Amino acid sequence: MSSEKSRYYEVCKGFNGLDKVLLRDPRGSSAEVYLYGGHVTSWKNDHGEELLFLSSKATFKPPKAIRGGIPICFPQFSCHGNLDRHGFARNRLWAIDDHPPPFPTNTSNKAFVDLILKPSEEEMKIWPHSFEFRLRVALGPGGYLMLTSRIRNTNTDGKPFSFTFAYHTYFFVSDICEVRVEGLETLDYLDNLQKKKRFTEQGDALTFESEVDKMYLSTPTKIAIIDHEKKRTYVLRKDGLPDAVVWNPWDKKAKAMADFGDNEYKHMVCVEAAAIEKPITLKPGEEWKGRLELSIVSSSYCSGQLDPRRVLQCS
Ligand code: BG6
Repeated sequence: MSSEKSRYYEVCKGFNGLDKVLLRDPRGSSAEVYLYGGHVTSWKNDHGEELLFLSSKATFKPPKAIRGGIPICFPQFSCHGNLDRHGFARNRLWAIDDHPPPFPTNTSNKAFVDLILKPSEEEMKIWPHSFEFRLRVALGPGGYLMLTSRIRNTNTDGKPFSFTFAYHTYFFVSDICEVRVEGLETLDYLDNLQKKKRFTEQGDALTFESEVDKMYLSTPTKIAIIDHEKKRTYVLRKDGLPDAVVWNPWDKKAKAMADFGDNEYKHMVCVEAAAIEKPITLKPGEEWKGRLELSIVSSSYCSGQLDPRRVLQCS
């Protein structure tokens, strides 16, 4: 590897000897990606502050998925099908892809890694389709974290396949009771806690006072998570991912999860950019792309910024 490249990118050992890739931006931001799961486990800003939640009880022991960070849910989100919850991509070993097909965008970013997942015979038994899943994780200017998934149908039997997908991002928050999510108000959602019954969200931004497990439909491309205590706003921009899941297990479910601390629910919220309601169908040779960009804005963020009528007043 050239010394220029190694300034931005390093492959090293993580927990339990699992390989991970460390991405560094010269201005100080960084990210870590485990090859196990193609899983981003850390994203830090220029001041070295961690922005993703990773459970202190995460096991890093295959075949269990890593609890926290950004698990990739593919080819099935949650229990929307016959596979194990959230599919198998999050508990397979991905490979570094040294020669990915060219990327039309973000070519100026130097801190990035390309990973690839192809099915082995084991996956073909449970999901009989041939595919290439390419994931690029990149750190952009200003410490942005960008994930781009490109999924191609490589079936040679002429058959299409369908899948659902999510970037199951666990954001670190200082106190869940002081958090609000903007951009999902007034939208329809399916409530996982009420047998996926359909409801319409009320006019106000979402706040948290008990367990939440909702799948919002046809969501805007931009969602904000405002951490009042930390005076920090996460801005999530997405493309190709119409749905958004919001999840916090709260106290009882937290206690029931072996790889999650009893009180850790206070310091996380999952806002998951997803394609679930309308599964993606690809014919042989076709490719789908789903992109997630995460950034942070400090206390100056103006609440209501997602309302286009107020953007100008805030800038
Ligand atoms: C969320 C689902 O995306 O993931 C929840 O909506 C689920 O229903 C949660 O409990 C965690 O799933 P897992 O398999 O990582 O424990």
